[in-house]
Amino acid sequence: MTPTLSTQTVVAVIGAGAMGAGIAQVAAVAGHSVKLLDLRPDAAALAIDSIRAQLEKMAAKGKISPQAAEAASARLQIAGQLADLADAGLVVEAIVENLQAKQKLFAELEALVSEDCILASNTSSMSITAIGAALKHPQRLAGLHFFNPAPLMALVEVVSGLATDPAVANTLLATAAAWGKTPVHARSTPGFIVNRVARPYYAEALRVLQEGGADCATLDACLREAGGFRMGPFELMDLIGHDVNFAVTRSVWSAFFNDPRFLPSLIQQELVDAGYLGKKTGRGFYSYQEGAARPLPATEPAQPFAHDVVVYGLAPAVRALVSRLSAQGRSFTQVMAPQGDTVATAGGATLRVTDGRSATRCAFDTKTPNTVLIDLALDYAKATRLAVSVAAQCDPAAASKVIGLLQAARFGVSLLQDIPGLIVMRTVAMLANEAADAVNQGVCDVAAVDTAMQLGVNYPCGPLAWANAVGLKQISSVLGHLAQTYGEDRYRTSPLIQQLVYAAKAF
Ligand code: NAI
Repeated sequence: MTPTLSTQTVVAVIGAGAMGAGIAQVAAVAGHSVKLLDLRPDAAALAIDSIRAQLEKMAAKGKISPQAAEAASARLQIAGQLADLADAGLVVEAIVENLQAKQKLFAELEALVSEDCILASNTSSMSITAIGAALKHPQRLAGLHFFNPAPLMALVEVVSGLATDPAVANTLLATAAAWGKTPVHARSTPGFIVNRVARPYYAEALRVLQEGGADCATLDACLREAGGFRMGPFELMDLIGHDVNFAVTRSVWSAFFNDPRFLPSLIQQELVDAGYLGKKTGRGFYSYQEGAARPLPATEPAQPFAHDVVVYGLAPAVRALVSRLSAQGRSFTQVMAPQGDTVATAGGATLRVTDGRSATRCAFDTKTPNTVLIDLALDYAKATRLAVSVAAQCDPAAASKVIGLLQAARFGVSLLQDIPGLIVMRTVAMLANEAADAVNQGVCDVAAVDTAMQLGVNYPCGPLAWANAVGLKQISSVLGHLAQTYGEDRYRTSPLIQQLVYAAKAF
């Protein structure tokens, strides 16, 4: 038996801004009578007009039937005051992100609605436990965190505070599912799932930029074309707005008592100080002025294909190289037996996948001066670009041979400065590390974190499934080497990853 709220349940939405309007639309389409309330005069009426226009558009495009659009429109009502919400069975709050305002509203509501009315907050950063502290019956309050735009985004985080009754969370989960969403349970901790686990996507790129690893356009291109992310971190931050993104970063960092994992970047601080807030102000990492050309990623000029190419073993990068070189009619030698973690050799240079050491250190440790490292790709068979780094000891002529080998396999090659873990590998390792800690600390389960990151921020793969595919030993080695290089607690390996590696298990 799923404890879904029936469509007879009146849903009240408080706050008719971007989120409240979207949530009201979702609930009305799902069959509920919806009452929309806002402090600002006319805000609810304007929101309902715009929802009705949306519904008409959806009907015109055949996404819902005209009858369904009309029925949903008819189910939307303006509420003039709080007392009008007394018959609601579910209240979703989407007002200003301010703890006192939310506490005050819920305390007033509690006196009005029936005992079994569920109270939900769409907050993206406030503690559900703290909001609930103002209630006589905090067990009836949970987070119901939609993503923007609510009608289009499938993910909903159902967030339990310390006092939340599990039955309330389960009812919200089943109801969100009945509304066509994909809900996941989360415990109320800073950033819940998505806003916490996504931090390294920005933080690692900012760190690499700060260390001069490459420019924004190159790093964005590597994360898109090798990592399979829909947008690179810099273009995404420009779109979100640096004021918003920096505020979320700061709030998660301070909510975790300044844990260095979440340390904000001075680069972001500077952009905010300068008023370069991204697309909305015409300038961020990139310029959005009229006629401004987007800088191209750095791509190595074509190098000749060597005649002594040998590939080793059956690792994913090797298998992709074999098929891509064969597809181009290139001749090379294939040795099935793995030779350590060497992917290929050409012109006296050795190519390996990064394990979190710099190429220079790897060359030193392995006594192989001519070492070139390649980055992680989501799928080496499909990637159109790969980042590489070259050891300081490497003969440039030898390096050009392995670069020519990658180019012959139709990879655009971006040469990064020799920073440890390159860009895709260190980003994915840190995303998996954060996801693992969220699981280890009981915030959510493995399936929830992977679902949340795919649906909430469009990642091409859940971070834990991705870590499994790369191999937890490799991920742990990347994290361990980053920790050694930087000596920072930021790169400490999640105890859960360590346990799984020792147990030879996966997530
Ligand atoms: P918004 O600023 O577009 O809308 C907030 C609305 O609430 C305004 O219309 C305002 O007049 C009204 N309001 C403020 N105090 C009120 C009160 N005491 N009673 C009734 N109405 C009141 O804000 P937005 O973006 O819709 O965000 C609302 C909530 O949703 C916040 O808690 C925010 O953190 C959260 N959220 C926002 C997301 C986003 O991408 N914008 C995503 C997920 C959650």
